Amino acid sequence: MEQISKAFPGVIALSGAHLSIAPGEVHALVGQNGAGKSTMIKVLTGVYRRDSGTIMFDGRAVDFHSPQQAQANGVSTIYQEVNLVPFRSVAENIFMGREPRHWGLIDWRRMHADAAALLRRFGVETDVTQPLLNLNIAVQQMVAIARAVSFRSKLVVMDEPTSSLDEREVATLFDVIRQLKADGVAVLFISHRLDELYAICDRVTIMRDGQTVDERPISAISQLELVARMLGKELGEVQRSGQTGFDLSAHQAAQTLLEAHDLRRGRALQGADVSVGAGEIVGLAGLLGAGRTEVARAIFGADPLEAGEIRMAGQPAQFRAPSDAIRAGIGFCSEDRKAEGIIPFMSVRENLTLAALPTLARSGIVSRERQQQLVDRFIKRLGIKTSGPEQKVRELSGGNQQKALLARWLCLNPKLLILDEPTRGIDVGAKGEIQSLINELAGQGLGVLMISSEIEELTEGSNRVVVLRDGRTVAELPHAEASQDAIMAAMAHGSETPDAAQGGSHDQP
Ligand SMILES: Nc1ncnc2c1ncn2[C@@H]1O[C@H](COP(=O)(O)OP(=O)(O)OP(=O)(O)O)[C@@H](O)[C@H]1O
Ligand SMILES: [Mg+2]
Repeated sequence: MEQISKAFPGVIALSGAHLSIAPGEVHALVGQNGAGKSTMIKVLTGVYRRDSGTIMFDGRAVDFHSPQQAQANGVSTIYQEVNLVPFRSVAENIFMGREPRHWGLIDWRRMHADAAALLRRFGVETDVTQPLLNLNIAVQQMVAIARAVSFRSKLVVMDEPTSSLDEREVATLFDVIRQLKADGVAVLFISHRLDELYAICDRVTIMRDGQTVDERPISAISQLELVARMLGKELGEVQRSGQTGFDLSAHQAAQTLLEAHDLRRGRALQGADVSVGAGEIVGLAGLLGAGRTEVARAIFGADPLEAGEIRMAGQPAQFRAPSDAIRAGIGFCSEDRKAEGIIPFMSVRENLTLAALPTLARSGIVSRERQQQLVDRFIKRLGIKTSGPEQKVRELSGGNQQKALLARWLCLNPKLLILDEPTRGIDVGAKGEIQSLINELAGQGLGVLMISSEIEELTEGSNRVVVLRDGRTVAELPHAEASQDAIMAAMAHGSETPDAAQGGSHDQP
């Protein structure tokens, strides 16, 4: 792709960008939120028409008019936002548009068998006849990846494929990528997780403000230098990676804000305990399926409980619906920003003030001026890249949508904020800023329950880490004891007393 330009009303998304990938190469595309990565891909696959520039594919000039056409010509893509059909079955989603047929009729039996076999390659054992929406987003992501890989493509584009996957699933995906590479397939890989890029990619293209600023073998650039190029800063100004924006020294333990005891619901929750104090950040750790999101949803009143007790400031607080929880001062920033988070066709302003509307309204009328002030403040505070508050949220880059979702709950000025993967999809520069914002708010008395798959976020950012396994609380580690090893040991083995720290025996069951 040479000299690619693309403007949207009020925004220049790409100006003279270039990108080149060779067969059998795994190529990283990096840049800050809003740098133009996804737009570059959408220009390639015909989702958007470019304003200028040339695209050569497999030796000839191409101009794909739709993703279907791109796919037919050997380019398959996993877009940043999973765009499958939730009400259709897993198998239908994989084979949509090219269902195996027999005498013109869909051969369901073969389709189901093929889908199951394909998913097994990804370590996913699931009933492929059930609707996709029954599965958690990690598995949905795996389905999207399986679909893309199943086309016999020459280039597979993956726009942040790993953001909702856990370590084991990432490892499986990397096996598949290695296999594609060995077959001579080119893979374009976009991710904000630098460790992953260094683990799997051969070359890297760095974008900033719609332009390509560097292109090199990834072994020829240090992580620090890569971040500096990406942010347009000097090496010395860049934070060491692996260092978060948290600094817990200013936090002081105050009275208990939330107590949840012995939460139970089916197999998902089998005796989870968690408490959060005012001004405290509590990390919630666990492997996929350990019940982290379930605990959050139960506290927020999104799912009913079969048993258990929840108290907020000492008062019983079993909320029947999220609206009750919001009224009691709880905010919940969900991990699934597409399904439960932002409302794509509404403006940035409307999305930000959605949860705060009832409190902004005086005698039922929402003061537009107050709303505007609040919105301006948070756009600035979180550095949301937008052409203005009236821009539709769906036009923001993925990372900026995530910031908008966080801003919505901050607008509410909550007492307790539940964050499910708060920095997913956020670039390394903005990540530290969001972490220090969370840190600062906790310093002012906000209680935070933070679910994170990133271990540094838990070890550096939590006053306490609660570890779940099989829907049960199995360990509670104060900051000083919450080392990476101790958390991992508890997640895997559920040991009440992590003996990894003592260097003792490792032959646990
Ligand atoms: N349909 C659209 N309408 C208007 N502006 C758009 C549209 N799509 C993208 N943009 C703008 O183009 C710029 C580049 O966005 P893009 O989605 O390519 O960023 P990105 O590098 O993928 O970021 P992220 O890491 O957050 O996903 C952003 O400023 C974005 O707001
Ligand atoms: Mg993007």
